[in-house]
Amino acid sequence: MTTLWKLYYDCYFFVQLLIRLNFFANVCQAWLPDNGSKLVNNLKQISSIRFTGNSSYPDHFVVLNQDDHSILLGGRNIFYNLSIYDFNERIESRIEWPSTKKHHDLCLIKGKTEDDCQNYIRILYRPSPGKLVICGTNSYKPLCRKYTENLTGYYDIDGEFEGIGICPYNPEHNSTNVFSDNQLYSATVADFSGGDPIIYREPQRTEQFDLKQLNAPNFVNSVPYGKYIYFFYRETAVEYMNCGKIIYSRVARVCKNDRGGPHQSDNRWTSFLKARLNCSVPGEYPFYFDEIQSTSDIVNGTYGTSGRKNLVYGTLTTPNNAIGGSAICVYNMDDIIKVFQGSFKHQANLNSNWLPYSENLVPEPRPGECTEDSRALPERNVNFIKTHSLLEEAVPAYFGKPILIRVSLQYRFTVVTVDPQVQTTDNEVFDILYVGTDDGRVLKVVNIPNAETAKAVVISENNVLPHGTSIKQIRLTPESGRIIVVTRDEVRLVNLSQCKHVNSCSECVDLQDPHCGWDAKQKACVSISTVTSRRYIIQDVRRGDKSKCSWTPPTASDKEIETPSIPNNDKDLYPSVSLSDEDVPDCTNDIEGCAIKQKIAGEPRTLHLIIVAACIGALIVGFLSGFFFSRRFRSPVPYHDAPFFEQHNHLERLNGNQAFLTPRPNKTVNLVHNVRSPSPPLKKDNLDVGKDLNIANDGTLQKIKKTYI
Ligand SMILES: *[C@@H]1O[C@H](CO)[C@@H](O)[C@H](O)[C@H]1NC(C)=O
Ligand SMILES: *[C@@H]1O[C@H](CO)[C@@H](O)[C@H](O)[C@H]1NC(C)=O
Ligand SMILES: *[C@@H]1O[C@H](CO)[C@@H](O)[C@H](O)[C@H]1NC(C)=O
Repeated sequence: MTTLWKLYYDCYFFVQLLIRLNFFANVCQAWLPDNGSKLVNNLKQISSIRFTGNSSYPDHFVVLNQDDHSILLGGRNIFYNLSIYDFNERIESRIEWPSTKKHHDLCLIKGKTEDDCQNYIRILYRPSPGKLVICGTNSYKPLCRKYTENLTGYYDIDGEFEGIGICPYNPEHNSTNVFSDNQLYSATVADFSGGDPIIYREPQRTEQFDLKQLNAPNFVNSVPYGKYIYFFYRETAVEYMNCGKIIYSRVARVCKNDRGGPHQSDNRWTSFLKARLNCSVPGEYPFYFDEIQSTSDIVNGTYGTSGRKNLVYGTLTTPNNAIGGSAICVYNMDDIIKVFQGSFKHQANLNSNWLPYSENLVPEPRPGECTEDSRALPERNVNFIKTHSLLEEAVPAYFGKPILIRVSLQYRFTVVTVDPQVQTTDNEVFDILYVGTDDGRVLKVVNIPNAETAKAVVISENNVLPHGTSIKQIRLTPESGRIIVVTRDEVRLVNLSQCKHVNSCSECVDLQDPHCGWDAKQKACVSISTVTSRRYIIQDVRRGDKSKCSWTPPTASDKEIETPSIPNNDKDLYPSVSLSDEDVPDCTNDIEGCAIKQKIAGEPRTLHLIIVAACIGALIVGFLSGFFFSRRFRSPVPYHDAPFFEQHNHLERLNGNQAFLTPRPNKTVNLVHNVRSPSPPLKKDNLDVGKDLNIANDGTLQKIKKTYI
């Protein structure tokens, strides 16, 4: 019976979601066609070079920096310098830096685990040539070290300083930092328990414990742009005045020449402003992807007709306890700046709603703009910005809506990295995106903008790591199509240039991969970066128009694919397309990769039909099971009271991360209990249940209090 309920709820929300996304309204233009990928490669089919550090403990790897030849990697007690081409370690520049015994023991006494009480290197910057500063968690006592490079390529220690406010305590904390104009800007937490979030550049910081400035943020990126540093993060939304809590994505900024306020407030920002990021599917009730997980750096390029733009790509998802929806939204830096010039949000008193603040009441000079000397600002301005750091408008997504949406029970997007403005043979340019997920996949995506909107085409979906491995970072290498994938415990160099793995002109053109073109002379799908003459290359990234293949010389018919005429410089062992999963060649040592084409679930049309059928099936099952229960228990089936997949009903979330969508085993009891009790609406019941639960596991009681404040 409980399984039936679970099924019923699953179906109910799935259908809600589909309706929200206008699926039934307009199947052809809806988002679902995005769900296909031109190539699907499983783990065995993707070759890579691995770097695992020490394999017996968690490493919490992070790529700190890279150049054309090396990547600099932070790990557990060690800083590594690897060759970007083959991951060979440059042993001479390895830095080993474990915590002292005193720090380690103190950390254990404070109740942390052996794994916590290590020094995870998180930050690296170069204050000047030949100098290096690295910072680590140092057994929950952040510390930085200065180094000087000596003539032999080794580093000598040059002093230490405290890393509080710069480096997180916990290696898993979502922090970010950026070094700009000889200053380090960091966004992290500044206390042992993680309750004191901070955006810091010595000596200025955000207000301490001020929920209006930062409210349980997870920082994802920081970038310098113009006179400002911009921070991207998600946090609990203070302006959301209904019951429960909700997380919004934000962009915040501080002025680089901010020197703090007058008198005692010289260690506080006078320019900290923030705004919401809007990533939603438009409609009467827009469907929001509210939780930003990562952003790319700023990408400069041309999109459509309107000149050059500076864009930031972001991955945004639905909350953890909802169905796994992920989206890629793009933000134009001009739009962000415009929002920061718009009206401020204002809350008259603690319980009133946040409303736009009248423009003529805003003090002069406008708070949040860079000024000559912030210490000379009138007291009034400094106080105004403290209580009005939030802007009224949300930053719209650049193309009006997400460029890619995926709904999946298996994964969510984690990171996105952009290979900007890759040129095609007909001199068009497109951004290629590499999108990582929390289940070991990387999607290779091309963004194809046209006059009003943009469409992302998924070129390939690659299982580069075992399922369940969350991808934390993706970095580009100088070689096209080759990327570095970072997870907690390993780093991989993966080749996602897969041109050679399709064998006909139509398939090659259909890939829409800017890296690939059909060479009509050699009769092979080749990597554009390796060809010397583009005369015979057929490519159509914008439309994937296969009819272009018929323009080739008569000998190059795309039906003749029997002979595997792979170019001679190709060290791939790959014979043909028709390999089944079992006889995949062994390619563990071959970085060139050996992917095999797999069609997923037929043509898009068939896919639609299957999905429509599945949805209708789900509807029927949902309806029947609802009907069955209503008969059985003679109480109205709580359709209208059921927890909507909607943001203004968050009562269910009071119990922390307990599933509000798919009841877990221990929770299902309560649901059944709800049905048996004669008539009180499910919603209210759940609130009570939530309270009970929270009092029971006293740890989360605090969370509730905070929510109500
Ligand atoms: C990493 O190694 C390369 C090659 O040996 C060297 O040029 C570079 O300076 C090293 N970088 C650091 C930060 O040690
Ligand atoms: C950091 O972000 C990841 C991905 O969203 C999340 O799973 C994790 O819980 C966050 N870390 C912390 C310490 O909140
Ligand atoms: C977000 O964008 C959508 C679609 O453009 C719009 O309908 C909605 O009102 C916006 N939401 C906010 C909070 O600005």
